[in-house]
Amino acid sequence: MVDKITVVGAGNVGATAAQGLALKELARRVVMVDIIEGVPQGKGLDQWESAPIEGFDARVVGTNSYDETAGSDLVVVTAGIARKPGMSREDLLNTNAGIVREVSENIKRTSPDAIVIMVSNPLDVMAYVCKRVTGFSRERVLGMAGVLDTARYRSFIALELDVSVEDIQALVLGGHGDTMVPLASCTTVSGVPLSQLLERQKIEALIERTRNGGAEIVGLLKTGSAYYAPAAAIVQMVEAIVRDKKRILPCSAWLQGEYGLEGLFLGVPCKLGRRGLEQVLEVELTSKERVELNRSAQAVKETMALLK
Ligand code: NAI
Ligand code: 2OP
Repeated sequence: MVDKITVVGAGNVGATAAQGLALKELARRVVMVDIIEGVPQGKGLDQWESAPIEGFDARVVGTNSYDETAGSDLVVVTAGIARKPGMSREDLLNTNAGIVREVSENIKRTSPDAIVIMVSNPLDVMAYVCKRVTGFSRERVLGMAGVLDTARYRSFIALELDVSVEDIQALVLGGHGDTMVPLASCTTVSGVPLSQLLERQKIEALIERTRNGGAEIVGLLKTGSAYYAPAAAIVQMVEAIVRDKKRILPCSAWLQGEYGLEGLFLGVPCKLGRRGLEQVLEVELTSKERVELNRSAQAVKETMALLK
């Protein structure tokens, strides 16, 4: 357990994640900060009132001021606007970049030693904005996307095969967008390669559904985007860091030559421990996967170039 975790943005993702962090008692205090008056306070109080029933002692509070977030060990950034039907993650770019810049300045000022997990979209570019504004090392700025995309892929495979999700191991790399790269070569069911259990066309269809996983939820909700699975993914990353678990999870990390790429955040397998990003693992890719990863990196760089 750490002393304090802050969640910036008390909307759908932020509030659901805060509740998950408290339920697992990953911090003594979970602070939600948002610009809307009353909402973080109300949600924080409501969550705290669930504590006697759920049996957690993590104090959840909401605020409109960064004073109460000061000295956070970890900060999760979910502030910004979410997609509506017909919008891509890139459509959110400059609105969310302005918000993430302001949030990052506040994090740097009030929690200079924090590890930051970026969630706001377009994810890989917002992680870049945060790293640039805070000046934090790459160990302390990570983006959440791969855990979510991989969970979606695993959940679809489990449905198709009618087996437990727990037995599906998989990795989705690349940018958090239409160019993401689910690694068919690394997908197994209790160690059995997926290619032995499903024909190629079926696997391709599951990969396509994964790529459109975010849009599928937006199309159903109509007023916003997914939040239960994203919040669960945030909690898993935070837990790996707080409990120093050295888990290997796909996260968006600042690349410095790994996979032949540098100067951008991209989804790669990462070792997460108490220092944040402890290692980027370089797994062997097929030539097709390598081409797809390069294409995905190119797409992230093109979005970075649109930043005002
Ligand atoms: P939401 O609209 O429910 O919540 C966003 C919250 O941010 C609102 O409460 C809003 O008042 C707050 N906010 C806006 N400006 C702020 C500022 N300057 N400081 C503090 N708070 C501020 O949206 P939701 O569904 O929670 O999504 C949040 C973001 O996360 C979106 O950009 C969305 O695209 C992204 N997202 C990313 C995922 C990923 O895999 N990386 C998954 C799901 C969502
Ligand atoms: C998602 O994948 C919107 O990025 C968000 O659901």
